[in-house]
Amino acid sequence: MPEPLATTADAAFAAVDGVDGWLSEGQVRRLFEATGAVPAGGRIVEIGSFRGRSTIVLGLAAGSDVEIVAIDPHAGNDRGPQEISGYEAEAADDRTTFLANLERAGVADRVRPVRKFSSDAHGDVADPIDLLWVDGAHRFGPARADLRDWGRRVRPGGALLVHDSWSSIGVTLALVVALASGRTWRYDGRVGSLASYTKVPGGVRSALRQLAELPWFARNVVKKVLITLKLRSGPWPY
Ligand SMILES: C[S@@+](CC[C@H](N)C(=O)[O-])C[C@H]1O[C@@H](n2cnc3c(N)ncnc32)[C@H](O)[C@@H]1O
Repeated sequence: MPEPLATTADAAFAAVDGVDGWLSEGQVRRLFEATGAVPAGGRIVEIGSFRGRSTIVLGLAAGSDVEIVAIDPHAGNDRGPQEISGYEAEAADDRTTFLANLERAGVADRVRPVRKFSSDAHGDVADPIDLLWVDGAHRFGPARADLRDWGRRVRPGGALLVHDSWSSIGVTLALVVALASGRTWRYDGRVGSLASYTKVPGGVRSALRQLAELPWFARNVVKKVLITLKLRSGPWPY
């Protein structure tokens, strides 16, 4: 397979040093590994790019003939924790910074940005998808639509990574509704809130593994409530 720009996760982590975003080091490593597993000529779809932290990891880890589509409207909605609407000015700045960050990391010509809401971008991407990386709107409705409608387009045996799983209430409810039955997706575990799935029937074992995450989810919700009420300090759980 044509060589990726970075051959180690260390190099990818160093490249995103200073790029704003919420991916921890362990999550960068997980994303790097999943990207490296995409076969030659494959396709990756990112939903939610923000300033490019995860996009750069994809661009560095993917083989040079892998297509990477980065979908983000940069419209000022669902920008970050508790930033649901009204962030148009910040989002305009995010767009400029996103493009500059890709350029600086040397991956601008490896990524095809699509400035649309994910629900409007289906026509911009061909089938099938080998790796779907979901980190867009975290409210239940759009998160469920991403998992259901984009998840449908992942090839059998393909991968799905979801950020803020078992952490954001909207994303977690969407996971439960769209994936947890184990009929289509096998749950492979998580690094912090980054959950990994493979598109093969996971069965009861997969459903039980996800059920076992509920106490961690409850702890995260309690933490967020206490932080919001200023009864404890961060970090916000990811
Ligand atoms: C949590 S940030 C993404 C972080 C990014 N993956 C990173 O590693 O830094 C969420 C992003 O989702 C974008 N977004 C919001 N609604 C969206 C939608 N319907 N489709 C795609 N992206 C969306 C926001 O503009 C924002 O940039």
